[in-house]
Amino acid sequence: MAEDFDVSLNETAVYHPDPSFRNQEMYKDYATAYRDFLKDPDGFWRNIASDLVWFRPWDTICEWEYPFARWFVNAQCNITYNCLERHVKNHRRNKVALFWRGEGEQERILTYDHLYKDVMQFANGLKKLGVSKGDRVCIYMPMIPEQVIAMLACARIGAVHSVVFAGYGASALNQRITGAEAKIVITAESSVRRGKTIPLKPIVEEALLHAPTVEHVVVLRTQQPPVTLVPDFEVDFYELMNGAPKDCPPEVMDAEDPLFILYTSGTTGTPKGIVHTCGGYMVGAYYTTKYVLNVMDNDVYWCTADPGWVTGHTYGIYGPLLTGATIFMSESTPDFPDPGIWWKLIEEYGINILYTAPTAIRTFMKFGEEWPDRYDLSSLRILASVGEPLNPEAFLWFYHTIGKKRCPIIDTWWQTETGMHMITTLAGEPMKPGYAGKPIPGVVADVVDRDGNTVPPNQGGFLAIKEPWPSMMRTIFRDEDRYRKYWESGNHPYYSTSDLAVKDNDGYIMILGRSDDLIIVSGHNIGSAEVESALVSHQAVAEAAAIGKPDPLKGNIVKAFVTLIEGYTPSDKLTGDLKYHVRQTLGPISVPAELEYTDTLPKTRSGKIMRRVLRARELGMDPGDISTIDE
Ligand code: WTA
Repeated sequence: MAEDFDVSLNETAVYHPDPSFRNQEMYKDYATAYRDFLKDPDGFWRNIASDLVWFRPWDTICEWEYPFARWFVNAQCNITYNCLERHVKNHRRNKVALFWRGEGEQERILTYDHLYKDVMQFANGLKKLGVSKGDRVCIYMPMIPEQVIAMLACARIGAVHSVVFAGYGASALNQRITGAEAKIVITAESSVRRGKTIPLKPIVEEALLHAPTVEHVVVLRTQQPPVTLVPDFEVDFYELMNGAPKDCPPEVMDAEDPLFILYTSGTTGTPKGIVHTCGGYMVGAYYTTKYVLNVMDNDVYWCTADPGWVTGHTYGIYGPLLTGATIFMSESTPDFPDPGIWWKLIEEYGINILYTAPTAIRTFMKFGEEWPDRYDLSSLRILASVGEPLNPEAFLWFYHTIGKKRCPIIDTWWQTETGMHMITTLAGEPMKPGYAGKPIPGVVADVVDRDGNTVPPNQGGFLAIKEPWPSMMRTIFRDEDRYRKYWESGNHPYYSTSDLAVKDNDGYIMILGRSDDLIIVSGHNIGSAEVESALVSHQAVAEAAAIGKPDPLKGNIVKAFVTLIEGYTPSDKLTGDLKYHVRQTLGPISVPAELEYTDTLPKTRSGKIMRRVLRARELGMDPGDISTIDE
């Protein structure tokens, strides 16, 4: 089907999927839908929000007092009512809400009714532990149904969940527990990865050494014999749940009450607790799951992201439950027990929508076509990607080898802070490999210069969002100044994404990378400063600098430059020790893949390490202005 693409002015191939992919319920075509949104933004969001159940309607759609927005003002709701009751009370009661597959081929199936009942009972268990509206609960669990139950149970009673990815190390976990002042930590005894059992509880114990706000730990015990628990402090997950009353009415939440905090790495050593709210986030998650990912009632939908990340929150759990879809969730890594596992699962469950990350796609490319070719992938209708730029090679492989030229490829650009998709190519619209696409209806985005002025097409600039949107973060927990900074660049009040981008003549946006010191490794945000402070906390290290270095598989790897304290000498053993130290402190994803010893680091006269100079030197590029360097 070579005729399904043409080449535009700037030599980019354009792929034209079948227009029948357009979600007719919402739009005839992108241009009309976007124009309609611009004509009446409030009407646009009112329309979407009206699909959901509100205990009290809003007085106004949006109140914008730069840089603070309130959405669905004075409305009342509970997201779990919309994720559960709304379906249980009508035709979806016995529909599968969640198919879960363990690495060892174990299967668990929860219907909407099962999930509803489990959530209510676990929510009552949390109440018994003294959790009430507004309290923070940290969830540090592997990708299992109990993780979903724990999150929804918090939302049920108005407690604010803060999910921490179970791959984080003790110190990273401690920072997130203390940062959120969590009252409860919910964890599991262990997780499973590539056939190996990884203990989680010892990490939690270490993280709790200096965490004075924590009153109880709920432990899902998975081993035989189960670990013994500290009486009155540690509680078994199922004992807590099964001993609690069954019925738990939803807490009535103001639309602007916080729903969750999710920590994301920033450019300082302290992670940012991004705060999302009950009403606006719910509307954003619902809208984009339905209209961007195109999830339909009979679909089986697989988002491969762990709920420890925002993608797992919005598109692994809340979005699909709001639309009443069937979620498929799996613990499995792409190549265990063999590189055919994902394709086997797609065949077995008849998965219709696959939402994954470019790193995974590139990993599969390396394994070769023979793996997907062994399985029937004809159930797939939509393929989507997130987390880092989907490079044209990966786009084409996804399109041809997995989608067999039938499926639109939806490259979704967004952030933990935005809560929902912002820029993408809607299903049925012409696709340009390498370009995420255009701002979706509801979002006003542009590429601007430092002052906030629009730059002409084909010139690089900063990606900015120019108007508030319902699922925007409302603040950074206990750090309002840091929140304000997002809206303070340039002369115009816009939200600065810190991403670099370029827009072509047709308005398609290509994401070029970060403009700050965040390193995106396999789609995960790693803060240079976090890695550096982990390294410096080792007794042998005097100073450290971490940069991102492009990598064909992972997008970037972390490269660290280290100066040693007098008396220590570089060795392979020390390199191993330093990597191990970062792993224990922050977790495996933050470990520098490359580590170089150096006698000095380039610094400004005020003593700031110039990572930019290191990066330029590493990549053989011009370091730019180095007039401030201290010789
Ligand atoms: C990057 C993940 C290119 C970007 C949802 C952004 C992307 C950061 C894409 C946010 C994409 C995410 N193309 N880059 N489709 N999606 N990014 O908060 O740099 O974990 O600012 O949210 O990931 O990462 P976060």
